[in-house]
Amino acid sequence: MRTKIVAGNWKMNNDLYSSINLISHIKNELNKNKFETKIIICPPFTSLETASTLLKGSSIFLGAQNMYCEESGAFTGEISPLMLKSVGCEYVVLGHSERRTIFQESNQLVNQKIRAAVKYSLKPIFCIGETLKEREQNKTFDVIEKQIREGLEGFNENELGNLIIAYEPVWAIGTGRNASPEQAQEVHKFIRKLIEKIFSSTFAENLIIQYGGSVKPENSKDLMSQPDIDGALVGGACLKSDSFLKIIESAE
Ligand code: PGA
Repeated sequence: MRTKIVAGNWKMNNDLYSSINLISHIKNELNKNKFETKIIICPPFTSLETASTLLKGSSIFLGAQNMYCEESGAFTGEISPLMLKSVGCEYVVLGHSERRTIFQESNQLVNQKIRAAVKYSLKPIFCIGETLKEREQNKTFDVIEKQIREGLEGFNENELGNLIIAYEPVWAIGTGRNASPEQAQEVHKFIRKLIEKIFSSTFAENLIIQYGGSVKPENSKDLMSQPDIDGALVGGACLKSDSFLKIIESAE
């Protein structure tokens, strides 16, 4: 039985003060109930240290939205895995489609970043997903397969015990147009089968595969009740504590 994981990707939202506010609200709401679902929040870099302090003693885990693959050095503007560890991060989102499209991150760079995450014991949330054009040209499975094979090239399954995959169709991100539960399930099943082919059936069976792309309280239950959907990576709807909480409740 896989535990559901709901992660909130804040993207480039919330300065330090609004981060403190949002975290306090989420914590207060979550304190009212006990949840089986694992909850992760991924604020911007500038709020991570404060978030880590605020989250001490809570059951919410902390993640970053990106990092570079080197430990230190002349990489102006980048953040290293060790820096993330030093401020209390446990997870890191890698290969998000906004990184791939706006900042031209390749499968090869994402692979190096996953390698660095594994080396420094950060848990990678590895994002993959097709564009609308690719879906319309019936290339979804080819694109997903290439992203997975190249992103996970050179790894053995023992190194990837903490891997989470997030399937996020690019056309569903921030558009309000989510994949239907059936569309998402079809791709999640394909991903699990492919992982089984590359690694093993036990590894595939235990792998958490989140769905992301316009997840909101109105669609989260239907999406997460699909057999191969093990949680959600939430953007817009995680910026308000009540909608984020409703999504977590629907995962239970
Ligand atoms: P969205 O973003 O929920 O706003 O569509 C999801 C994501 O980018 O992870």
